Amino acid sequence: MVGRTEASVRAAESTLGERGPWIGLTADLRDTDSAERLAQAAVQTFGGLDILVNNAGIAGPVDPWKTDVKDWDDVFAVNLRSMFFCSRAAAGVMRDRATGGSIVNLGSIAGQIGGIAMGPAYAASKAGLIGLTRSLARHFAPLGIRVNCLSPADIDTDMTLGWPEELRRRLISITPLARFGRPDEVSAAAVFLASDESSFITGQTLNINGGAYMS
Ligand SMILES: NC(=O)c1ccc[n+]([C@@H]2O[C@H](COP(=O)([O-])OP(=O)(O)OC[C@H]3O[C@@H](n4cnc5c(N)ncnc54)[C@H](OP(=O)(O)O)[C@@H]3O)[C@@H](O)[C@H]2O)c1
Repeated sequence: MVGRTEASVRAAESTLGERGPWIGLTADLRDTDSAERLAQAAVQTFGGLDILVNNAGIAGPVDPWKTDVKDWDDVFAVNLRSMFFCSRAAAGVMRDRATGGSIVNLGSIAGQIGGIAMGPAYAASKAGLIGLTRSLARHFAPLGIRVNCLSPADIDTDMTLGWPEELRRRLISITPLARFGRPDEVSAAAVFLASDESSFITGQTLNINGGAYMS
């Protein structure tokens, strides 16, 4: 489990409690070298890696007119580039052990419909992630490594915590199930894609959106 700061790692550790085994590591995933370091830490602690969930994401600016080059690059560095380098580092470990594995990428409905509460950099990075998922699914399939993408709509997390009530109402009004999703509804899908229950599923994008987008 990875967070940017000791504080965020400690917070996740207290949520995990006795469940495990697990290790908490800090990394800024904009730094591409961190991918190999994290994969090797898993090897040293657990002897290998079976599952990678690429969860890190940042929203970036909503307004296209107020999106500068640094904003754009930061969003892509976290939401897309880190997912490639972490996937490759994890797949390298899985390849060396020849035991296969599963990689789950956190996409977003914004990558499919353009994003309503999110800006162009976020939507473009998440759209790119669908392509990255399909590409890695093809490249890693001969190694027995599956790669899939989750595409949630609006979920009650820190990312959406401060959204104005009017925006929440608008988003709920276009969602057939008429509510925001819960984090456990996303993690349950991640567990499914990580597990052998989904052993013939790769390169797919699984929508978790209350019906807000049906493909
Ligand atoms: N919430 C939604 O409505 C929603 C909808 C669709 C998709 N998603 C996607 O779901 C994923 C999780 O988002 P969330 O809603 O849980 O948001 P969140 O509460 O803001 O969490 C974002 C996570 O990304 C990590 N992160 C951000 N920048 C990082 C960096 N440079 N290096 C390492 N870690 C970094 C954060 O680490 P720290 O713990 O250190 O802060 C945090 O764990 C994201 O990919 C997001 O795009 C969310």
